[in-house]
Amino acid sequence: MARIFITGSVDGLGQLAANALVHKGHSVVLHARNAQRAKYGLAKVPGAESILTGDLSSIEETKDLASKVNKLGAFDAVIHNAGVFQVPENELSQDGLPLLLAVNSIAPYVLTCLIDKPKRLIYLSSGMHKQADADLNGLKLTKPSASYSDSKFHNLVMAMAVARQWPKTYANAVDPGWVPTKMGGPGAPDNLAKGIETQVWLVGSDSQSKVSGQYLHHKKQDRYLRQADDVRVQEKFFSFCEDVSGVKFPSES
Ligand SMILES: NC(=O)c1ccc[n+]([C@@H]2O[C@H](COP(=O)([O-])OP(=O)(O)OC[C@H]3O[C@@H](n4cnc5c(N)ncnc54)[C@H](OP(=O)(O)O)[C@@H]3O)[C@@H](O)[C@H]2O)c1
Repeated sequence: MARIFITGSVDGLGQLAANALVHKGHSVVLHARNAQRAKYGLAKVPGAESILTGDLSSIEETKDLASKVNKLGAFDAVIHNAGVFQVPENELSQDGLPLLLAVNSIAPYVLTCLIDKPKRLIYLSSGMHKQADADLNGLKLTKPSASYSDSKFHNLVMAMAVARQWPKTYANAVDPGWVPTKMGGPGAPDNLAKGIETQVWLVGSDSQSKVSGQYLHHKKQDRYLRQADDVRVQEKFFSFCEDVSGVKFPSES
């Protein structure tokens, strides 16, 4: 049995993955943006171990969430699943950052750095990362910006950088397909059950799932923007996240 923490797990793919993992006998800690959503989430995932709260658009709340996770003790896996899609470009977080960049890109970085290292890390990316600006030109401290595609490329860069820098950890990015959640919309053409199978497989005991540095779609490696493997791109992303959050990416040890 594994112990798993899933961000953004009161709805959508996070909630579905949580239920599937609980059903398989794993211990799952959920995450919601606030107490009201936590109450909703706990009712939707009977059998979950507990639920933690923290608004990922706030760097302080994200740091606090990492401490709450650490207070619960060791985890085998963390699934960085929470995300937003259609956010007006000019909508800013309380830290003055584009909201989408704060939730989708900076929060997974901060949580990865501050949560005691699990054995497995999974980052929800998307096929839409292929439309990203792979030179990360939006990551300027003066006026940062990011499209949804850019943020999903950041998630991929994060997975590849972690896999390279922490060889004892299995870190991978997952494209769940375009599926009918709140984010995907009712007309999304892909299979919802298949949208969680890779995450569930990656945290399980199948020896074939002990992979790292991969971009997976439906449990198979898929093509991705190779700039994600470029150390300079990875360092640019980490350096930006460190500058805005004050959190340094720790070495393995
Ligand atoms: N659906 C797709 O077709 C698709 C395709 C490719 C990739 N993905 C990726 O898959 C992941 C899950 O997507 P989904 O389709 O399940 O989306 P979803 O149904 O909209 O669920 C997203 C989850 O993230 C949470 N969340 C959003 N902002 C938050 C914040 N500031 N603080 C804390 N939690 C926050 C949401 O909380 P609330 O419920 O309270 O809003 C919700 O639980 C995302 O990373 C997404 O980019 C999805």
